[in-house]
Amino acid sequence: MLDSLGGKTALVTGAGQGMGRAIAVEMARHGASAVAVADRNAQTAVLTAESVRAAGAKSEVIVSDLRVRDDIGTMVTRAAERFDGLDVLVDNAGVIESTVTTDHDRAVDSLSEEVWDAVYEVNLKAAWLTTKFAAPYLRRSLRGPAIVNAVDLSPVRCNCFCPGVIDTPLARGHFAAGEDRDSREREMTAPQLVDRLGRPEEVARLACFLASDSAAFITGAAYVIDGGALAWRGVKG
Ligand SMILES: NC(=O)c1ccc[n+]([C@@H]2O[C@H](COP(=O)([O-])OP(=O)(O)OC[C@H]3O[C@@H](n4cnc5c(N)ncnc54)[C@H](O)[C@@H]3O)[C@@H](O)[C@H]2O)c1
Repeated sequence: MLDSLGGKTALVTGAGQGMGRAIAVEMARHGASAVAVADRNAQTAVLTAESVRAAGAKSEVIVSDLRVRDDIGTMVTRAAERFDGLDVLVDNAGVIESTVTTDHDRAVDSLSEEVWDAVYEVNLKAAWLTTKFAAPYLRRSLRGPAIVNAVDLSPVRCNCFCPGVIDTPLARGHFAAGEDRDSREREMTAPQLVDRLGRPEEVARLACFLASDSAAFITGAAYVIDGGALAWRGVKG
């Protein structure tokens, strides 16, 4: 077993599938002592928690809807109380328009307010609220506390990863929402230098590194993990 997260306790949101699941399991593989698996989907969260335990860490399923303020508070408190503190927070959960609507028309003047609210509340407000509620626990941590996503809690280190196209249910749903699934996938990976979809485990290993003491001098940084798409777009103009 790898040990870069030796003994740390972590809370991962949106850990029922996709990158969140990969991050939770990878953290256990990297020596985390406990990983709280938070998601609104209880069934998928249970499966993740089983994989976390199989990888050697304790785990707790916390079912919460990040659009509900009280759920967020309860989620953080439960994770911290169950594992006697919190060292690592990963604000991973997120949605895109195709997660919340089948309506293909998402132009700025026709997008519904409900879709806007869902994306804003889950992707932005919930990440802030989760960090806000977790802050007192992270500040008390004596095991190199770290957040993956957000800034401004020094000495708690805060870094984020910026994924390109990663092979998760979210991305697959997005491809399927187009007229031709394969051409949509090709179109989205075309600007990359690495000619394939990213793997959730690859993002998870970056998240583990950022949460670990190996990254002790790294804070306030954003790590692009996109197969070179951003850099290559710049070169192509
Ligand atoms: N997959 C990609 O290509 C890609 C690219 C860029 C950014 N992202 C972002 O990365 C993050 C993870 O993406 P993914 O592809 O693994 O997504 P995913 O849809 O496969 O998984 C997201 C998880 O978040 C949970 N979730 C969604 N809304 C929630 C809510 N209100 N309350 C609690 N849990 C909720 C879902 O149940 C799901 O388990 C998201 O923030 C996404 O926007 C993904």
